[in-house]
Amino acid sequence: MSVISVEHLSFAYPPLLPEGQPFPVLRDVVLSLDKGEFLALMGPTGGGKSTLCMALNGLVPQTTGGVFGGRVMVLGHDTRRTPVAELATHVAMVYQDPESQLFNTTVEDEVAFGPENLGVDPREIVERVDWALRLVQMSAHRRRSPAQLSGGEKQRVAIAASLAMLPEVLILDEPTSSLDPVGQHEVFYVIEQLCRARQMSILMVSHDAEHIAEFADRVAVLWQGHIARVDSPLAVFEDEELLEQAGLDAPQVTEVAAGLNRRYGTRFHFARLDSAEQQLVQDLQEKAPRL
Ligand SMILES: Nc1ncnc2c1ncn2[C@@H]1O[C@H](COP(=O)(O)OP(=O)(O)OP(=O)(O)O)[C@@H](O)[C@H]1O
Ligand SMILES: [Mg+2]
Repeated sequence: MSVISVEHLSFAYPPLLPEGQPFPVLRDVVLSLDKGEFLALMGPTGGGKSTLCMALNGLVPQTTGGVFGGRVMVLGHDTRRTPVAELATHVAMVYQDPESQLFNTTVEDEVAFGPENLGVDPREIVERVDWALRLVQMSAHRRRSPAQLSGGEKQRVAIAASLAMLPEVLILDEPTSSLDPVGQHEVFYVIEQLCRARQMSILMVSHDAEHIAEFADRVAVLWQGHIARVDSPLAVFEDEELLEQAGLDAPQVTEVAAGLNRRYGTRFHFARLDSAEQQLVQDLQEKAPRL
């Protein structure tokens, strides 16, 4: 079942000057997100990924204006006609720049803010705040001011604030860009758990091919304003032509497989370390049974 369906969406930002032309960013975007699915969105810098995310929670075009064509449906609501505040009860968003999202005086107030606005029972809010801060490993910082946190910590708080709303759909726009490698892995891991355990539907913008291959169900590539391909991580990462055009990287193991296949005529197909190991061991055992 689709929770989000993007139907032939096109969008142009309004002109910066009154006599200017609208600035087209998206054209004929077709995409769906299923319940409980973890979909990764990749695409070149400035390609319209954030704009597409904002079309899913109604900010585009409700706050931006501009020329909007097609339709975006979120759990049966048309995002153009449903107030942003009402859409926010279904779709939570972690913005690319966490600074823009944090405005409370303490971390715990920040995380409680969303559920408070939704009218959640205060006892449940306390539980949700504890749970969300624990998940992103920020419990120890709950009384600090978000303004004093590092970039990575701010990002974690922004994620916790979204999680505390227990949304059906969570959109994360490059949420790991200012985290260290351990923090990046943790975020992907937590998000995947939420997806599996709570059937939350996730759309995450990321360039992190290794983690996408490990955790995402599908990958969509936004290129030249439209979705050039949506497929399994392996199929997308083996599409060398598309990756090159869009300036995206495959996981290193997929590049190793492609190199081996070209050089030795092998037929390795992997994007994850575990399947790389499995296929390489099997191949070695077939070639040298005593190994
Ligand atoms: N409010 C706006 N008004 C006019 N143009 C905008 C506005 N916001 C973004 N743009 C332009 O729209 C295009 C797409 O921007 P967007 O931020 O959606 O891309 P992105 O894929 O998220 O980029 P990045 O990889 O840098 O995050 C860019 O050319 C950008 O300059
Ligand atoms: Mg962006």
